Amino acid sequence: MIDILIIILGIVALICIWIILYDSNRFVVVRHALADPRIKKPFRAVVLADLHNKRYGRENELLLSAIEEQEPDAVIIAGDLLTARKGEKFKAALGLLEKLKDKYPLYYANGNHEHRLELYPEVYGSMAEDYEKELTKLGIHRLVNEHVSLEQTGIVVYGVQIDRKYYQRFRKKPMPSDYLTSVLGRADQDKYCVLIAHNPDYFPEYAAWGADLVFSGHIHGGLVRIPGGKGLVSPAVRFFPHYDGGRFQEGSAVMLLSRGLGTHTIPIRMFNPGELLVVELAPAAEELTPTADVGERADEGAGKRTDERKVPEESETSGKGERRNGDTCKIGSV
Ligand SMILES: [Fe+2]
Repeated sequence: MIDILIIILGIVALICIWIILYDSNRFVVVRHALADPRIKKPFRAVVLADLHNKRYGRENELLLSAIEEQEPDAVIIAGDLLTARKGEKFKAALGLLEKLKDKYPLYYANGNHEHRLELYPEVYGSMAEDYEKELTKLGIHRLVNEHVSLEQTGIVVYGVQIDRKYYQRFRKKPMPSDYLTSVLGRADQDKYCVLIAHNPDYFPEYAAWGADLVFSGHIHGGLVRIPGGKGLVSPAVRFFPHYDGGRFQEGSAVMLLSRGLGTHTIPIRMFNPGELLVVELAPAAEELTPTADVGERADEGAGKRTDERKVPEESETSGKGERRNGDTCKIGSV
């Protein structure tokens, strides 16, 4: 009887190891669509978060071809492209940026790992300066509590870097109501305000500040997910965090929280593959009602670019091209 139990436990352990190895080395493409009357023309963004120096393919060619396939108008980087670890190289992050920079506008805001390099030179030496120098050579400027207005689209992109104390473990530290205005200025309410904010815990505060759409990361989907359910644990060591990945709504504001693409300290993902977000932003069409289901099937329209880009259903695509449809995306609620 004990022998049988040991064999069963051994098989279960092997299956778990296989799932972890499989999910830690693949990514899916997840699509979202939103519309707003302030958006002047369709705008498609690809969002990368928490790559942590990971490569998909020798030179990240699997990730690059998945991005290329989406034909985005811009690539948004929601922080933690690298890992803050003494002696860690930036080669993977820089190699990816070098290949992206000539093809797409890049909007890059820091995560806590980029921020840590700057805060603790006694630990990381000149890593922050070295990274900044390499980015400057590539002509890449990060949005550190700055914004850029995309005039033709009616969209303004903000990048926020919140204080390190807001990343404390176990308990969320309250953020004063004027904090975001003090670092970012007032949100431009005449434009559609996209906020790149690595830490999703402060989504209610981002919404109160005036963000229409928040791109976030940091949580890595909770590392291990209960199939069909929640993520297990956040980097702040909170179990089953509310913000664990996906779409969240706060009043009229939406947060799209990426499950990220890489790993670091605990290098596992289980039932939780990496995630590349593709987000379609469209002007609110007159014929669309607030709860209308719209669009063509994502698996028919993906990769094709047409002048009238309809809002697709939300779907997931593996890095290698296999697709599965998700829930139908409702629009008009933003
Ligand atoms: Fe992070």
